Amino acid sequence: MLPDYYQFSLPTKVRYGIGMASRLGEELADFPGKRALLVTDKTIVKAGLAKKVIDGLKGSSIAIVATYDDVPPNSEIKVVTEAADLGVKNKCDMLIALGGGSVIDSAKVINLLMVKGGPLEKHMGAQLIKDRLLPSIAIPTTSGTGSEATQFAVISDDANSVKLPFAEDAFLPDVAILDPEMTQTMPSKVTAATGMDALTHAIESYVGSNQNPVSDALSLYTIELITQNILQAVAVPNDLNARGAMLTASFLAGVAFNHGGVGIVHGISHALGGVYHIPHGLANSIILPFSIKHNMESSAARYARIAQIFGDSGFYPVQEINRIVAQFDNFTINQVVSQLSLVDDWLVKRRAESLAQKLWMLNQKLNALCGHPLNLRDAGIKDGFKKIDQLVRTALDDAAMLNNPEPVTENAVRDILQEAYAQNLKPVAVSKSELKAARTQGTAKKLKGIFKDDTALYDILGTYFLKVQADPKLFAPLKDSKLKIRFNYTSPDASIALDGSTDDKSKQILRGEAARAFNPEVEFTLSADMSHYFWHGQVNLMQALARKEVLPKGNLARAMRLLPLLEPLYELYPQYLRERDLGKLAL
Ligand SMILES: [Fe+2]
Repeated sequence: MLPDYYQFSLPTKVRYGIGMASRLGEELADFPGKRALLVTDKTIVKAGLAKKVIDGLKGSSIAIVATYDDVPPNSEIKVVTEAADLGVKNKCDMLIALGGGSVIDSAKVINLLMVKGGPLEKHMGAQLIKDRLLPSIAIPTTSGTGSEATQFAVISDDANSVKLPFAEDAFLPDVAILDPEMTQTMPSKVTAATGMDALTHAIESYVGSNQNPVSDALSLYTIELITQNILQAVAVPNDLNARGAMLTASFLAGVAFNHGGVGIVHGISHALGGVYHIPHGLANSIILPFSIKHNMESSAARYARIAQIFGDSGFYPVQEINRIVAQFDNFTINQVVSQLSLVDDWLVKRRAESLAQKLWMLNQKLNALCGHPLNLRDAGIKDGFKKIDQLVRTALDDAAMLNNPEPVTENAVRDILQEAYAQNLKPVAVSKSELKAARTQGTAKKLKGIFKDDTALYDILGTYFLKVQADPKLFAPLKDSKLKIRFNYTSPDASIALDGSTDDKSKQILRGEAARAFNPEVEFTLSADMSHYFWHGQVNLMQALARKEVLPKGNLARAMRLLPLLEPLYELYPQYLRERDLGKLAL
């Protein structure tokens, strides 16, 4: 059933691609800021990721004029205050956050302090900022918080052992760069814990009180991506496809819970972070299975749906029988079958309960792969659980509890904590069939500046078109379509037009001025280098259009219909280059 009201917005421009951070300057050509404050941490710098970003900006209009690289795993008031002072002192007009959730959350709050000034406590709350903050870019290096796509930030107040929550639309970064290579150096334990954080975001927003069609859709696909990739990403760290899937899942789950919220698991985990400094994703992974029993009354059907993604059949026999007997329109049979619906209700509940088992099993497999802790003792509570009363109180005060589908009582929180503290689970080995060979799909070295000037372009591409024209079979698709098409090239600037509507061979291929004076039905503007890749059959045109690397004008659909007929030309182009002794340009 749809809710009475829902809303959706994502002002953040999201760009995904392997190696994208290394060409940041190109990706951010129109970015409004010029003097960047880079916010990151020492591990990121040590792993060489900060250097990748700095090198990626070379030659662009953005300069990193100050770096704050001391953000701890749980950022605190002192950190954001220091970093904001550094940014103001260096007259920074933009921020780049490079790191996990703590770094990206910190950058949001640093931005707030740079624009609005301190002290921080004065800004605590939600939706207090009416004006814009400085433009910002987020580059996540973990796959969990989804902070690049949320309005939230959490900063520790160490003096009072609590987490300070902030929620501001203005926090949403202008650009998020999702580059799987930037998550490749993440240790397995962090991959496991942060991945479970993303899974918790998806599950909690799917069952939460603020559920809506947008977060539902995002949550379900997130859960699918995580179930299919988390073991792989932990076991085979250099599998960039698995890394990319987890990074995407984390981002999608971020958008989901930005709209659907989280619940009891996060309420308890925030407290575990504040009081016992247990890493957020790890705390979530331990608490998550227990939340299902607590929310069963209202959310069984939704948990059962998630269990299906984890591999349950989703078959409900009475529903099936109902569907069949409905065709006979027999009142008595329908009455009898409707009585049986209790069987399906029972099944829904069993399947929902099975989800808890499946989540424990996932944790146990992660434990076998990387030592992912399975209870709160192993997660870091070494004092005999002395602070459980403080934990319960802190958890009950957490705003996330308000969005939980079932009311959260003191006893419920205490029971979950005690069970999560005492439980003893064993590792479960991951079978070979559950893992795939690594698919690294690294960034292929690309040729650049292939045509040194327009003369070279007309010589190579222009002559190639003449070769195609000379073969009636190859030229037939254009002739048959009668299409008039023009390619406008950049770097170097040049134009070539093809006219399928005329039988006059001398007018079928036009270059330079003649091409520019031509009146085409459709034209494409693209870089000359991209055209070179296109004629090798190496450009996904739909993706290139989406990335605005190819700009179309006119009747695009007419031209696109020709695409399947171009296959033979993709083979001919490299052959042609070799024939002309230009083999070094063939890909
Ligand atoms: Fe979280």
